Amino acid sequence: MILPPIFMSTILITGSNRGIGLAFCRAYSELGWEVVATCRNPDSATDLKQLSGKVTILPLDVTSGKSIAALADTLKEKPIDILVNNAAIHGPRDASGTFGKIDLDAWMEVMKVNAMAPIKLTEALLPNVLQSAQKKLVFISSMAGSISLRGSQPHHKQGGPYIYRTSKAALNAAVKAIGFDLRAQGVSVVALHPGWVKTETGGWDAPGDPSESVAAMLPLIDAATPEGNGVFLNVDGTVIGW
Ligand SMILES: NC(=O)c1ccc[n+]([C@@H]2O[C@H](COP(=O)([O-])OP(=O)(O)OC[C@H]3O[C@@H](n4cnc5c(N)ncnc54)[C@H](OP(=O)(O)O)[C@@H]3O)[C@@H](O)[C@H]2O)c1
Repeated sequence: MILPPIFMSTILITGSNRGIGLAFCRAYSELGWEVVATCRNPDSATDLKQLSGKVTILPLDVTSGKSIAALADTLKEKPIDILVNNAAIHGPRDASGTFGKIDLDAWMEVMKVNAMAPIKLTEALLPNVLQSAQKKLVFISSMAGSISLRGSQPHHKQGGPYIYRTSKAALNAAVKAIGFDLRAQGVSVVALHPGWVKTETGGWDAPGDPSESVAAMLPLIDAATPEGNGVFLNVDGTVIGW
């Protein structure tokens, strides 16, 4: 069981207006954390605005350097105990996402949001994380990005979707490297697969629910240590091969 922090700890979440990001905000605010909830359009973040507790909603388009710089400026000197890089897009699900017809512009956009933006945001907010007590970086990845899983069990023997897979594989590669680079500064770094969850990205036929997924990920985040850096965990706590 995760106990509420004795001194108020702060978590920042990207893509917090819906889906898993919103469930993260709800869970941590209910635990008594200070939540910095970021999203592209705070004005239309209706569900987020209804959360009680200490929730501050700030604008952030993760692909915009200007938006990242503005956020970092607003948060200057503010310790952030946990930075959750959650925002992502799936990209095309039609023919333009399949081999032979891959849409280059769509691919670049997904790479920008899913792989590059989390790293640039982490660079910008690292001073805040280093000032905090917990110093944790969480990257919401996906099993779809695991290369080693592809040939293993029968249900992972599938090809596409190239765009989403490559974006999460690239993110994973960076997470592994960041884990090495920041261990000496006491930063914990973990990549998590949230399970297959009912959201716009997961699709509405998915078996899981965002709140269940987040409830399962909380203890994994709680247990993350710098010594364990470079690990890719499934929502049930088992290790996923990179
Ligand atoms: N659901 C699943 O089954 C599943 C499985 C594996 C991994 N994941 C991962 O879980 C994470 C959360 O996804 P979800 O399932 O909750 O999907 P979701 O409901 O589609 O939410 C995606 C979030 O990302 C935000 N976003 C997209 N582009 C952005 C940008 N440029 N700047 C800022 N925010 C942006 C969206 O904001 P807008 O409303 O402004 O578009 C939205 O808040 C993602 O990393 C996803 O890859 C999900």
